[in-house]
Amino acid sequence: MKSYQKLTTDVSQITEAGEEGADGKPLCHQKLSAWWLGGGLLMVATLLSGVTVWVLGQIWWDQHGIPFWSKCTSVPENRRFDCYPERNVIVTRELCEGRGCCFVDSERPLDRMKGVPWCFYPPDFPSYTLGSMNETDLGMVGFLTRKTKAYYPKDIEKLHLSVEFETDSRLHVKITDATNPRYEVPLDVPQATKRAENPLYSIEFCKEPFGLIVKRRVSGTVLLNTTVAPLFFADQFLQISTVLPSTFLYGLGEHESNFLHNLEWNTLPLWARDVPPAESYNLYGVHPFYLLMEKGGAAHGVFLLNSNLMEVVLQPAPALTWRTIGGILDFYIFLGPDPNLVVRQYQQVIGFPAMPPFWGLGFHLCRWGYETSNKTWEMVKAMRNFQIPQDAQWNDIDYMNGSRDFTVDSERFASLPQLVEDLHKHGQYYVLILDPGISSTQPPGSYWPYDEGLKRGVFINNTQGKPLIGNVWPGFTAYPDFSNPNTHRWWLENLNRLHALVPFDGLWIDMNEPSNFIDGSTEGCSQGELDNPPYVPGILGGFLSARTICTSAKQSVSVHYNLHNLYGLMEAKATASALVEIRGKRPFIISRSTFPSQGRYSGHWLGDNQSEWKDMFWSIPGMLSFSLFGVPLVGADICGFFKSTSEELCIRWMQLGAFYPFSRNHNSQDEQAQDPTAFSPAGRTAMKEALELRYALLPLLYTLFHRAHLQGDTVARPLFFEFPKDEATYALDKQFLWGRGLLVTPVLESGADSVTGYFPRGVWYDYYTGSSVNSSGESLRMAAPLDHINVHLREGTILPTQKPGGSTWLSRRNPLRLIAALSQNANAWGDLYWDDGESLDTFEKGDYSYLVFNVMQNTFTSTVLHSSVEATYITVEKLSVYGVREEPKTVTVSGKDWPFTYLTNQVLSVSDLRLPLSQGFYIRWM
Ligand SMILES: *[C@@H]1O[C@H](CO)[C@@H](O)[C@H](O)[C@H]1NC(C)=O
Ligand SMILES: *[C@@H]1O[C@H](CO)[C@@H](O)[C@H](O)[C@H]1NC(C)=O
Ligand SMILES: *[C@@H]1O[C@H](CO)[C@@H](O)[C@H](O)[C@H]1NC(C)=O
Ligand SMILES: *[C@@H]1O[C@H](CO)[C@@H](O)[C@H](O)[C@H]1NC(C)=O
Ligand SMILES: *[C@@H]1O[C@H](CO)[C@@H](O)[C@H](O)[C@H]1NC(C)=O
Ligand SMILES: *[C@@H]1O[C@H](CO)[C@@H](O)[C@H](O)[C@H]1NC(C)=O
Ligand SMILES: *[C@@H]1O[C@H](CO)[C@@H](O)[C@H](O)[C@H]1NC(C)=O
Repeated sequence: MKSYQKLTTDVSQITEAGEEGADGKPLCHQKLSAWWLGGGLLMVATLLSGVTVWVLGQIWWDQHGIPFWSKCTSVPENRRFDCYPERNVIVTRELCEGRGCCFVDSERPLDRMKGVPWCFYPPDFPSYTLGSMNETDLGMVGFLTRKTKAYYPKDIEKLHLSVEFETDSRLHVKITDATNPRYEVPLDVPQATKRAENPLYSIEFCKEPFGLIVKRRVSGTVLLNTTVAPLFFADQFLQISTVLPSTFLYGLGEHESNFLHNLEWNTLPLWARDVPPAESYNLYGVHPFYLLMEKGGAAHGVFLLNSNLMEVVLQPAPALTWRTIGGILDFYIFLGPDPNLVVRQYQQVIGFPAMPPFWGLGFHLCRWGYETSNKTWEMVKAMRNFQIPQDAQWNDIDYMNGSRDFTVDSERFASLPQLVEDLHKHGQYYVLILDPGISSTQPPGSYWPYDEGLKRGVFINNTQGKPLIGNVWPGFTAYPDFSNPNTHRWWLENLNRLHALVPFDGLWIDMNEPSNFIDGSTEGCSQGELDNPPYVPGILGGFLSARTICTSAKQSVSVHYNLHNLYGLMEAKATASALVEIRGKRPFIISRSTFPSQGRYSGHWLGDNQSEWKDMFWSIPGMLSFSLFGVPLVGADICGFFKSTSEELCIRWMQLGAFYPFSRNHNSQDEQAQDPTAFSPAGRTAMKEALELRYALLPLLYTLFHRAHLQGDTVARPLFFEFPKDEATYALDKQFLWGRGLLVTPVLESGADSVTGYFPRGVWYDYYTGSSVNSSGESLRMAAPLDHINVHLREGTILPTQKPGGSTWLSRRNPLRLIAALSQNANAWGDLYWDDGESLDTFEKGDYSYLVFNVMQNTFTSTVLHSSVEATYITVEKLSVYGVREEPKTVTVSGKDWPFTYLTNQVLSVSDLRLPLSQGFYIRWM
């Protein structure tokens, strides 16, 4: 029987339950008779094996006269979808069957420990039914209805399903209440205007129970199949599950975990929370996006545009369940097929990251507890004294008077304005911390931020309509409501006043989960459903207001229940526009809490970590995850925040941190100093060299940021993005790339003098010497003395590097050295984006230079595709070509004979070139 219904193009099919798809296989669930039969066989088998009592004890019948146990035992363990995820409840048979679910009283307590549910949905658990669908300009729409109520309150009986074929690689599926409008995330997302013509996907529907199946057309790979478990859509409990085509799953932040997720019954809660990172906790930011590698090297991604408290359950089927307690189910599915394209397509929806100022890519130094501006100043002078590169000095909350925002301690930080002036005179920059909580206890008339905030109604209110009061660093505080445009104006005016006092260049917005040292508020929280929803995902603390404000609190766009996860994003947006207004230059902002589209306004540091080797390791998966989330400006506190570091750890961490896109050494108060000047001469020198390496590579890093801003390319990049067909790269998170061709292999353990790294197939060149290794796709052990970090160039790449200086202000004026690493066909490619490093929208306004470098047929060519005055200040001084197999007889530069050196490790160097960057040139060797 072939009864599937063809709708519109061949993009979609509708299938009735139990009927056959085009390939003759059932598309929805198998018919109940199959369960009956399977169950019967199982019963016979079990009887024969002699465990009669146990089996008889399991016989229950449902309304169709089907014994429960047969349906239930036929569900393989890894396909059990949890019907009773509530915590702090001992799930008994009665409770479980009260929900109409299967109860398997495991005799193996270990299973429970592993997380295998023993209360799970039977295959025919009632769910929604899809009615007929109508075509629309962009896709199709239909209604989903359910006859029986599910077990959560305010179950919604009629849903509206819309499926839009937005682009060939992007599918948009939205399920919401058909009758009443619900909260939706206030994010500007692009609206498609015409239907995709040649989509990479096909979609099929199962009508009853409702399910959606998305396939990659070219391979037939099933990317999503939501028929595996029932859909729930109650007011405060929304759930949808799918099987996955592989276990290679990444993303879903912010968590401390390996880059490649573990699918062995792993629940990831997503709720912005102030807590030192630890495994399985929900951390500062929320990113409901995953990327999955399919068999054969194609990738796809899924984004759930929902800002409510949620959790994602991963299980070994492999399968995934989204469980959220508000909003709607609004999915974007990206078909890649290349992982780089998936991340690009995701950012086409959430927005491309901002272009950071060039100085933002320099080295930043900070600690909590400098105590005075004089001591902070001494730090800066010591760095200069040892000629260690530094672009920005920071202060933590100790600069404030009583930890109050927008104040400066007029005694201990009396010389702060002079310090900032001195920084500026040296072409260096100053960054301040700012917390959202506004002290509410100052005498009226003495603290403008609060007085004026009250007057303008900018604070988040409690259920009684009064500002909600929590407790943060300055004591009792009110919380600005950044969803209110008036708050942005007030925030700007406060920043303007502070800037008049201390002309800071960038801002570090901390504590913006928002954090609260008391749970909820000084008056606790309401007992209503917004503070105590019927279901609470597995967050730290077990309740919504743990270390934050009451979720019943009122904000101008909606209740905090819906907006909590957006707090850091909305604050960053307000702060970025204020900085633009105040300085008229590109804003530099680092935020602790983040949400999709954060990259448009800020970068992120990975939180309050410890001076431990394992924390140094965790920073790599953390950094790579934020690359997927469209927040490329990311790094961890170099040498660790809490605890005291050792010299060895700090050297290794400075070496790794030289390759964080955002590179800051930050220390806690009362710990041993850990800035580069605090160590032995050898340690200090090793750190200085690591930073000089970073500064040399900044033209490359800046160009990578340009590509991120332009089209959503990643900066710090997982290896599998470049080698998607090489499965050996899928789990790598101790190494990473910058762009397509610079491989970093740091030492992550103590006492090591060598390091083992994986080299995908091809020729790789040692960055420093140009010596090559021809890898067959293997792990190689390399020397790694304490003063050395292994960096390799992939064949076929050309890097622009620059002579380092004490700051980017100096290094930006230095001559360039270009390094070409030849492919086995003796080709190479690279590019350079160059502008003044700080003006707004230089690319958009055309005030930039863009150059492409090529090697073909023994000729290096620099081609200027776009030019601005900035490039005329820079010269190319040296070209090194790695992998020149035979010693050339002559070298010519734009036609003229030129001296050169050639080393036996196949490195050709041509020096003293003095070629203006703004003009094309070629260098030929024969
Ligand atoms: C989707 O899942 C259902 C339930 O497991 C299964 O019967 C069906 O064959 C699957 N469909 C596809 C296309 O994989
Ligand atoms: C489909 O079209 C019919 C006829 O115009 C209409 O009654 C129905 O509401 C439409 N369904 C949806 C989901 O819009
Ligand atoms: C801190 O602020 C209080 C109240 O405005 C003020 O009286 C005091 O002088 C300030 N102290 C310092 C050290 O700035
Ligand atoms: C900071 O240094 C200046 C100049 O040396 C000195 O006058 C001032 O007393 C110092 N301030 C503090 C708080 O130590
Ligand atoms: C909070 O209350 C103030 C008055 O106290 C009011 O002006 C403001 O609009 C309220 N804000 C919200 C989001 O309810
Ligand atoms: C330190 O930072 C890393 C990177 O985010 C994180 O994974 C780790 O858990 C942190 N450690 C602590 C103890 O805060
Ligand atoms: C690298 O090894 C491959 C075989 O694995 C070989 O075909 C190739 O010629 C080698 N290339 C170089 C530059 O030695």
